[in-house]
Amino acid sequence: MVMITVENLVKVYKDTKALDGLNLSVPNGVIYGFLGPNGAGKSTTILSLLGLVLPQEGRIALFGEEVFRDGTFNESNLVKAKARIGYMPEHATLWEFLTPLQTLNIIGKAFKIPKEEREKRAEELLKLVNLWEVRNKKVGKFSKGMRQRLLLAQALINDPELLILDEPMTGLDPKGIAEFKEIIREQKKAGKTVFFSSHILAHVEEICDTVGVIVKGRLVLEDSIENIKREFLRKAGYTIIIETNRPVDWSSTAWNVTPLGERKYRVVAPEDIREELHDYVASQGAKILTMQVKEPSLEEIFLKLVE
Ligand SMILES: Nc1ncnc2c1ncn2[C@@H]1O[C@H](COP(=O)(O)OP(=O)(O)OP(=O)(O)O)[C@@H](O)[C@H]1O
Ligand SMILES: [Mg+2]
Repeated sequence: MVMITVENLVKVYKDTKALDGLNLSVPNGVIYGFLGPNGAGKSTTILSLLGLVLPQEGRIALFGEEVFRDGTFNESNLVKAKARIGYMPEHATLWEFLTPLQTLNIIGKAFKIPKEEREKRAEELLKLVNLWEVRNKKVGKFSKGMRQRLLLAQALINDPELLILDEPMTGLDPKGIAEFKEIIREQKKAGKTVFFSSHILAHVEEICDTVGVIVKGRLVLEDSIENIKREFLRKAGYTIIIETNRPVDWSSTAWNVTPLGERKYRVVAPEDIREELHDYVASQGAKILTMQVKEPSLEEIFLKLVE
């Protein structure tokens, strides 16, 4: 089943085209990273999925059921779909004077979960997000990471099949990010689908099965991070730095070679030419002593994509 389908979605705010024919497809059981720079339209997309902003054109289906088409939400389908979704907003607030237990109790009540089940669920969730020890401490003193984890527990209260998280890791330190990623991974193991946005590539690295890159309201790429990297390498070229045991004459190759020293060279080629490089250097009666392949960092790839 496809959990989220978005087709040609258009959203115009007064004079800003936030979504310009957006297409998206999120299959069941994946972790999907929705990546884009500030103002790209990530939050607008998420708000549209939840019926919280009204797009002008396009189509949205959740769990295979159409919830929006050509300017109108199908309210009954939307209500049914939302019961199966856990949502964490971009600028969520918490009740500063309540404890995690009290917070989840109130949210559970709002979902009409019976008292006993509510208590059991709160315990499970607070253990899951590592807040069980501070369950009776007021949220007002919590760190950003603790707050984000409580918000996630809140989003999980109705045991949703699909989690939609808007910038859940923004503002977290590396430890907080690692903890959050681990919890998301556990959600996937439990059979849930996770769709989360970020403007930081490192957030989607390691954990996402698929990354969709949104720029100016359009999806410019949707693929695995490995393929996105490979595609970029193909475009940008491979840079290989080698040291040889004696000088090499490069005049009969088509590669772009820059000498960096007596026996040190930078070679740029459209693809991975490590083997050819060995053969060529050997054919010149020399040997490669060291070889270093310079892969662009994910951040460089991302910047190139959104240029
Ligand atoms: N309520 C609104 N009224 C007018 N313009 C809006 C409104 N909400 C968003 N926009 C504009 O629409 C565009 C997309 O905004 P959106 O918040 O969806 O981007 P985003 O990708 O979530 O960005 P960020 O990374 O900053 O959260 C931006 O140009 C923004 O200024
Ligand atoms: Mg946003």
